[in-house]
Amino acid sequence: MGNQVSMLAKHSFGKKEEDIIFAVNTAANEKAKIVGKENVINASIGAFLDRDGSLVTFPTVEKVMKDLSFVESASYAPIAGMPEFQQAAIDLTFAQYKPKDMHFKAISTPGGSGGIHHAIWNYTDTGDKVLTSDWFWGPYRTMATEMGRELTNFRLYDENKNFDTADMYKKVEEIFTTQDNALVLLNSPAHNPTGFSMTYEDWQAVVEEGKKRTENSGKNLILFIDIAYIDFAPEGSRKFFELFTDLPPNFLVIIGFSMSKSYTMYGYRTGAMIAVSSSEDVITEFYEANQFSCRGTWSNCTKIGQMALITLWKDKELMAQLEEERAGYSRRLANRARIFLEEAESVGLETCPYESGFFLTVPAANPPAVAAKLTEENLFLVPLKKGLRVAICAIPSANIEGMATKIKKAMDL
Ligand SMILES: Cc1ncc(COP(=O)(O)O)c(C=O)c1O
Repeated sequence: MGNQVSMLAKHSFGKKEEDIIFAVNTAANEKAKIVGKENVINASIGAFLDRDGSLVTFPTVEKVMKDLSFVESASYAPIAGMPEFQQAAIDLTFAQYKPKDMHFKAISTPGGSGGIHHAIWNYTDTGDKVLTSDWFWGPYRTMATEMGRELTNFRLYDENKNFDTADMYKKVEEIFTTQDNALVLLNSPAHNPTGFSMTYEDWQAVVEEGKKRTENSGKNLILFIDIAYIDFAPEGSRKFFELFTDLPPNFLVIIGFSMSKSYTMYGYRTGAMIAVSSSEDVITEFYEANQFSCRGTWSNCTKIGQMALITLWKDKELMAQLEEERAGYSRRLANRARIFLEEAESVGLETCPYESGFFLTVPAANPPAVAAKLTEENLFLVPLKKGLRVAICAIPSANIEGMATKIKKAMDL
């Protein structure tokens, strides 16, 4: 046996990723063939599933999509997105909480992922550190690595389970000792994988501390706020946007808007990156550099998703209908979480602080061992570095009962 043959360029050598979610899903399906589908709980899937295991889609979105012109949607969209789509994404993101006296621009991206990609690419240099919390969505690391950056972490929450602003800025300052730009990826509200949401006061502290670190400092702070799950968070979850006002010109906020979950359009790959700045120059530069990167990567984005958003945004009745459909599913999600969390509390199972969202998380010392043990009970969870992810979005409430007890038992073994 000789050395492994490789034709990859040096920077790509050894590049591969164990798709743990796919592996857990396959294992669950294999087990279902043996013991019957009804006896297996597959909490690995990151999409909202109905009681019968089918993907939840919103009827209003489906209707809007069906009524769109194929010819129009088949033609190219502008590189940075349809102007009305850009406006719709801005309006729907901020609702009544648009920051005052600031400049804005949006660029269409393939899902929220595209915006994360461009933010990493255009606001950090090769070899730079990119900061996010210690519980985080795995693709942040994949994207940072893919672009030759290094993902580093701060503590998401402290001993009292409050957002750890102090640790975040400690890490930002460390980054500022070697970099002029600090890019921080924050996923709130309804964080994946924990369901944690920063409070309004947390955001106030983040903004105040950010101002202190940027005013006349010669250092640039870029906060990327990933709001992929915001439409499943409680009313009022957008209020923090109003805080992004009166920022120094070197404090840029970019918001990652995604239609995947909020409009059940996962596969249509539609989203936007929205910049907020007090400086018109920074906004113009944001638009030009990111538009260039669109051309230099995926070119333009799927047009039909943009057209669907424009239609919904222009029609108040349709939008109200969609919001009602979404609210129904948000209530179901909250119910699933409540069942799990009440049982967890009664059996003494620790969980990460959950507020809303598709997932919740159980901290564990040896996640792969606990996950393996649970497969014997026909319960399939995704082991993360620091715990187990429970995709309540994929489990009907009837099957949630008993899960916390099983997890607690497996952890005590
Ligand atoms: C935390 C988080 N951010 C962003 C996304 C982006 O998804 P998409 O690119 O499909 O919009 C996801 C999807 O799972 C996610 O969980």
